[in-house]
Amino acid sequence: MELSGGWTLALLLAALSALLGLLAGQRRRRRKTGRLPAGPPPLPLLGNLLQLDPRAMHRSLEKLSQKYGPVYTIHLGSLPCVVLCGYQAVKEALVDQADDFSDRGEFPVFYRFTQGNGIAFSNGDKWKVLRRFALQTLKNFGMGRSSVEERIQEEAQCLVREFRKTGGAPFNPINLVCRAVSNVICSVVFGNRFDYEDADFLTLLDHFNENFKIMSSFWGELYNIFPRFMDLLPGPHQQIFRNFEKLRQFIAERVRRHQESIDPSDPRDFIDCFLIRMEQEKQDPLSHFHTETLVMTTHNLFFGGTETTSTTLRYSFLILMKYPEVAAQVHQEIDQVIGHERAPCLADRKLMPYTDAVIYEIQRFISILPMGLPRAVTRDTPFRDFLLPKGTNVIPLLSSVHYDPSQFKDPDSFNPANFLDEKNAFKSSDAFMPFAPGKRICLGAGLARMEIFLFLTTLLQHFAFRPLVAPAEIDLAPQCTGLGNIPPPFEFQVLPRQP
Ligand code: HEM
Repeated sequence: MELSGGWTLALLLAALSALLGLLAGQRRRRRKTGRLPAGPPPLPLLGNLLQLDPRAMHRSLEKLSQKYGPVYTIHLGSLPCVVLCGYQAVKEALVDQADDFSDRGEFPVFYRFTQGNGIAFSNGDKWKVLRRFALQTLKNFGMGRSSVEERIQEEAQCLVREFRKTGGAPFNPINLVCRAVSNVICSVVFGNRFDYEDADFLTLLDHFNENFKIMSSFWGELYNIFPRFMDLLPGPHQQIFRNFEKLRQFIAERVRRHQESIDPSDPRDFIDCFLIRMEQEKQDPLSHFHTETLVMTTHNLFFGGTETTSTTLRYSFLILMKYPEVAAQVHQEIDQVIGHERAPCLADRKLMPYTDAVIYEIQRFISILPMGLPRAVTRDTPFRDFLLPKGTNVIPLLSSVHYDPSQFKDPDSFNPANFLDEKNAFKSSDAFMPFAPGKRICLGAGLARMEIFLFLTTLLQHFAFRPLVAPAEIDLAPQCTGLGNIPPPFEFQVLPRQP
């Protein structure tokens, strides 16, 4: 079916979705209305669908805030969601009332697969226990310690070797970058990296890419609004669940192999630690440590740890080719601080204010997850003049924070000076929120920051990126936007730099 038929489809969906709900007696439970903020009047069944463009949801939401203010209610089908737009509103909710806004909101495209299991999509005690366990275990296995730095450095050198093999011929970096980034989290979670030619690994990464893309498309957004009906409808969204299932099988098989070879006195990785905890708590009926939870948690780390970081790196290449003067200054700083004799390390970062500012500005500019992940309030929550009933879905528009003119000068332009002071020293900003603030801040933020810095500086130490078109012709507009902002596919050349 053509996307141009999208609105007909949406109307049809609304009608059938409601009918199905009635037949099954499963209409979404009536919510206490509290005092929700005003918003565009919803139509029965459709909600505000006609005011939204499922192909660019976050832009439609930003546009509506011009009329309804920074805090308003939107109806996705029959589900009311409170939208937070701009720095002040997002900060007041997610930072100043961090506990109240710390539940995960409804996210059907993930729910069908996770059933609310794992870290990213659970709530309450289960979420707290799993998150604490994951953070501690990842720390023990190197996140935040020198061993993970070495792991990233090694993987960055593998990537350099692969880039070099292209011999200056044009290529699309998507697969190589994805393999390198994924290998870092794989070694923490599975205890090993995969060969870049390993067929199973490559198939899985294809599934990741495909899922992130479909979830960021019209189909992914429509699924989130009309899940019951979309379940019955053929279309690209069904591929998401087939891919997730293959991923689940892959992880389940790894868990089985770990069970066969585990030595409880010498855990090798995240999976071993989880299995040990399962064994310790097997008599506890309230334990959160079960095989299915392990599979979902591993999936969260594997998917979360691969797609966002590799997409950010791909976008970085494109931006550095569009702005060669910025790339030249980063090259210069690399030559001065690191030189060509040794690999970049994390300690270099504080001596490289310009490069640091460029990385922050890239993350601000691309806003890779423009709507974050949906939150929900943990109790009946007074917020500004409103009262949000427990469970109300909340959409923090992270992109609107990054493009808030009260926080960044000329936010539509790419400008590393946003993160430099008048003496050209690096300065952060409270409005820098690619990982979302508050209690549910991205669990892998530390790892992601290390990876982006080390991969980017290592590649730029060795190569100059050359576009196949003039820089002015490079279009940075995402290929599709929804859950994520996906950069347009591109090829480039990597030319060795002379020491
Ligand atoms: C540039 C890279 C990354 C970006 C921009 C990013 C962004 C985000 C955002 C916006 C959230 C939602 C937070 C919220 O609930 O409001 C999130 C959650 C999460 N991320 Fe990341 N992420 C990145 C890399 C990673 C990595 C490397 C890992 C793996 C270790 C990871 C694992 C997770 C997990 C498990 C959650 C769920 C946290 C929870 O619900 O408590 N992410 N991420």
